[in-house]
Amino acid sequence: MTAKPVQIRLRGVAKSFGGKRVLAGLDLDVHEGESLVVIGGSGTGKSVLLKHMIGLLAPDAGTVEVDGVRLADLDYREITIFRRRFGMAFQEGALFDSMTVWENVAFPLRRAGWPRERIAARVAECLELVHLEGAEKKLPAQLSGGMRRRAGFARAIALTPKILLFDEPTTGLDPVIKAVIDGVIVDLRRSLGSTTVTISHDMKSTFRIADRIGMLHEGRIIAIGTPEEIRACPDGRVQQFIEGRADGPLSD
Ligand SMILES: Nc1ncnc2c1ncn2[C@@H]1O[C@H](COP(=O)(O)OP(=O)(O)OP(=O)(O)O)[C@@H](O)[C@H]1O
Ligand SMILES: [Mg+2]
Repeated sequence: MTAKPVQIRLRGVAKSFGGKRVLAGLDLDVHEGESLVVIGGSGTGKSVLLKHMIGLLAPDAGTVEVDGVRLADLDYREITIFRRRFGMAFQEGALFDSMTVWENVAFPLRRAGWPRERIAARVAECLELVHLEGAEKKLPAQLSGGMRRRAGFARAIALTPKILLFDEPTTGLDPVIKAVIDGVIVDLRRSLGSTTVTISHDMKSTFRIADRIGMLHEGRIIAIGTPEEIRACPDGRVQQFIEGRADGPLSD
């Protein structure tokens, strides 16, 4: 891979909660325009890692830089504005409960000052992409978990941001919708050059969308490389994880 500029740079990032160390001095570079997938066991800190990239969590030690800007140097107002260059689909969906699906997806477009007709067209397009046509008027509480996740995904991509963070965008979705969402992630990178960081448990999705795969384990990225490199990685922990085996060094 040609050396693309680094868009997100983490150095020595450490984070503990109540004495429990989750990130243990983690280093990671995300390059402009790449699709990086972070894999790792449940509770290893993948969501925590993603939240550091967008400044929703601040490290106890170490630095997070996005486009050369140290997030720690930004005040509350600056970081709120800064965050607009990101789209993020949270694991929990994180929709506004009092807004309909349509209003949720329209929200970032309205805030960006788009005219009404363009908003309507873009919302329709995004909902169609995630196969949610017909759900426009529903409230989040009226949706299944999978539908909420898809609505969150549609909202994240509405403004086609330069950087997209997806926390398990396809977990719990049926295989067809999964393939559709994977296809949207690949397209975002191919046609728009967006940088995407996706957390996934699903190896099929991971190999479908990743330019590079990084594995988080015990607070650090223990292996990172192209799908071919990760498939050939000699680390037994990586092999156990990607093969989904019950026995191996991760279970010891
Ligand atoms: N805001 C918080 N306050 C306290 N503890 C937290 C907080 N956020 C995360 N943790 C803890 O940090 C650890 C890592 O959590 P995280 O959600 O990042 O795991 P994960 O790798 O995303 O797991 P999963 O695959 O199940 O989504 C967990 O032990 C979790 O309880
Ligand atoms: Mg998580």
